[in-house]
Amino acid sequence: KKDTLVLGIETSCDETAVAIIRNGTEIVTNIVSSQIESHKRFGGVVPEIASRHHVEQVTYVLDEALEQAGMTMDDIDCVAVTEGPGLVGALLIGVNAAKALAFAHNKPLVGVHHIAGHIYANRLVKEMRFPLLSLVVSGGHTELVLMKDHGSFEVIGETRDDAAGEAYDKVARTLGLPYPGGPHIDRLAHVGEATLDLPRAWLEEGSYDFSFSGLKSAVINTLHNAKQKGMTIHPQDLAASFQASVVDVLVTKTVKAVKEYGVEQVLLAGGVAANKGLRAALEEAFEGMEAELVIPPLSLCTDNAAMIAAAGTVLFQQGKRGSMDMNAHPGLDI
Ligand code: KG4
Ligand code: ZN
Repeated sequence: KKDTLVLGIETSCDETAVAIIRNGTEIVTNIVSSQIESHKRFGGVVPEIASRHHVEQVTYVLDEALEQAGMTMDDIDCVAVTEGPGLVGALLIGVNAAKALAFAHNKPLVGVHHIAGHIYANRLVKEMRFPLLSLVVSGGHTELVLMKDHGSFEVIGETRDDAAGEAYDKVARTLGLPYPGGPHIDRLAHVGEATLDLPRAWLEEGSYDFSFSGLKSAVINTLHNAKQKGMTIHPQDLAASFQASVVDVLVTKTVKAVKEYGVEQVLLAGGVAANKGLRAALEEAFEGMEAELVIPPLSLCTDNAAMIAAAGTVLFQQGKRGSMDMNAHPGLDI
């Protein structure tokens, strides 16, 4: 039987990425061109700058991916691209590149949901066993997603305000740390002590939803009050206390959902999945549990195209096809 080779393109935010995946599970090549340096001095991603970088980079990254793989478009069975959610101008660059490529080489095209991509990053590590639960924690999303089969996504809980990554980035900014702040807080938290009593938003009994805006405000108030009283708060202790609160809520709700839904696997997904505190707490929580915990390597947690090609392979094999009318959908639902 012939291999299935899918080329993935991801441009939803600030990484221009192209990857080629064999049979939905094996990385042939995975190239990520990051723009973080260009956005840093603005303290966040500037949409116009992101679009311009994608336009400049996308053809180079495409050529590099094919060259690294020792392939031409003739070897590729399908082109998969992120069609949403994300920044509309940024998404459009990837969608148009994918359409041009598919049209010029007469290849099928599939549109992939960015969060489905984050979840499918796990398939590059372990074969998926259903039903499974995915904890998705990124800059734009915090969700518990139940999957009973490939391509079926049921959101059982989601954030009501800030996403986990957004909370990390905002708290980091308050502490004067550069963008993106998640990794800096993570590093500080590792050397600090969670001595400050910060709130945990459990919400109503039985709810799997999340809320992080109260916690973010509590951090800002704690800093403000300390300053007024002339007290010093060590940033590492504040980072550790903040991280302890976020991780506690994420892990507790995940464990509860795993028990309620009796899932076979738990997949961690999204940029915040790179968080060392979260990874360690999940590993500890699932030690004696029957459900298998899967955590992708750091490079597959943050935005990349391997995950888009992995999710796209399933859609391609299910016979799903995008058309030349494909558009970018900034607010696409999973
Ligand atoms: O999934 P992602 O790369 O982009 C989106 O789709 O949003 O996630 C980016 C987010 C940022 O908010 C970043 O601060 C956060 O992931 N992040 C982290 C860590 N590494 C990245 N947050 C906490 N700890 C980390 N180690
Ligand atoms: Zn992402």
